[in-house]
Amino acid sequence: MISKSIQSCREAIYRDLQQCRRGTFKLFADIDCDTFCRLAHPDFSPVGWHLGHIAYTEDLWLLQRCAGLKPVFSEYHQLFAADILPKKQRVFLPPLPEVKLYLDAVRKKVLDYLEVAPIEEQERLWRFMIQHESQHCETVAFVLQMQEKQGRRDTDLNADTRINDPQGGRRQREEGILMPDARCPMPNSEIEIPGGEFYMGSDAAEALDNERSRHLCYLEAYAIDRYPVTCGQYQNFMASGGYQNPDWWSVEGWKWLKVHLVDRPLYWSENPAFNNHPVCGVSWYEAEAYCNFIGKRLPSEAEWEKAASWDAANQTNRTYPWGEAPPDASLCNHENNLANTSPVDAFPKGSSATGCCDMLGNVWEWTASTFDAYPGFESYPYRGYSEVYFDGEHRVLKGGSWATFHQALRSSFRNWYYPGVRQIIAGFRCAK
Ligand code: AVJ
Ligand code: FE
Repeated sequence: MISKSIQSCREAIYRDLQQCRRGTFKLFADIDCDTFCRLAHPDFSPVGWHLGHIAYTEDLWLLQRCAGLKPVFSEYHQLFAADILPKKQRVFLPPLPEVKLYLDAVRKKVLDYLEVAPIEEQERLWRFMIQHESQHCETVAFVLQMQEKQGRRDTDLNADTRINDPQGGRRQREEGILMPDARCPMPNSEIEIPGGEFYMGSDAAEALDNERSRHLCYLEAYAIDRYPVTCGQYQNFMASGGYQNPDWWSVEGWKWLKVHLVDRPLYWSENPAFNNHPVCGVSWYEAEAYCNFIGKRLPSEAEWEKAASWDAANQTNRTYPWGEAPPDASLCNHENNLANTSPVDAFPKGSSATGCCDMLGNVWEWTASTFDAYPGFESYPYRGYSEVYFDGEHRVLKGGSWATFHQALRSSFRNWYYPGVRQIIAGFRCAK
């Protein structure tokens, strides 16, 4: 914090904490008890658990560890800590109004503490807390989407809930943006990136432990697609028997397919209005198979990040593809603004210096890279945030989705999941 005064730093944190919290409560605005407590999938906790865990984590790190206070409701420790109960036992939750009281009680003390906290030493922790909440909200958003899908009475998952049934989504859909010309498939042009160095990662105050430290990275020349792979393009793979032909699949991928027996993305829609939307709800293995099918490959994380952030003319990195201005609704599809995917070419103002579009927001993009430490990595604030996932199995996703809050949206941000996960809001783009 060289250029910012301590007071303006405090004010910025206050603003971001409160703004993030408004987004959190908006997600829970019309949630019934069943939705709140239901285990939609064995790998993802009920949405109500995420809400309580947000308060628990704030209490633990800011009030107990920093301010030296006693836990606000110590009886919630067992339930809302990250590593005590198995997910299937997280369904026994207090009602939503009670969990809200917990959040409010913790937040009141947090704001009192913020006024006196040594913010110059703690900025990173406060920034972490805001992003922690943001990330749990994204999980809430896709668990709600899963529930919406499961709640449909007819079992035809092809039938589209999102456009034809105005009650199908609990949030209003922006119909205007969902109406591209279905008969005009997106020309997915390739962008040539010359070989050379760029800076990867970030040392900014908001950078999480896994983004550090910023380091030079040399890449050979490569080509990357201007847009993520669209539903229209992915349809060709499906129609050509892509899910039936082992030729396109790695040994691991085919093994995964034989266990899960899927034949379309999880969030697939037959509605042609989605042709120009990114494909969404695919595992890393499906992304890999599609790339093999069209003779391309997934970009490495470094290739993705260079295409998103490197400004060769000025030999600098941009925080966001479009520059330094924080994300807003005209630059990318994020923060539940549309509560759905949008056409991959809907945000020309958000394109990167290299000309790549839709790098932030809309859908997370799988990369070829496993989640690993950068040079100089140090766990922060705890090993369990990133370090325990450096296991050579998790794959990196970049770019954020329609549900990602702006605090967790930047080119250096890294997300990670096992390659078989398809419940997250994820698609991909190709490279070669
Ligand atoms: C980085 C999104 C995989 O939600 O499991 C939240 C983020 N870590 N609390 C997750 C996280 C601890 C994490 N992901
Ligand atoms: Fe957490």
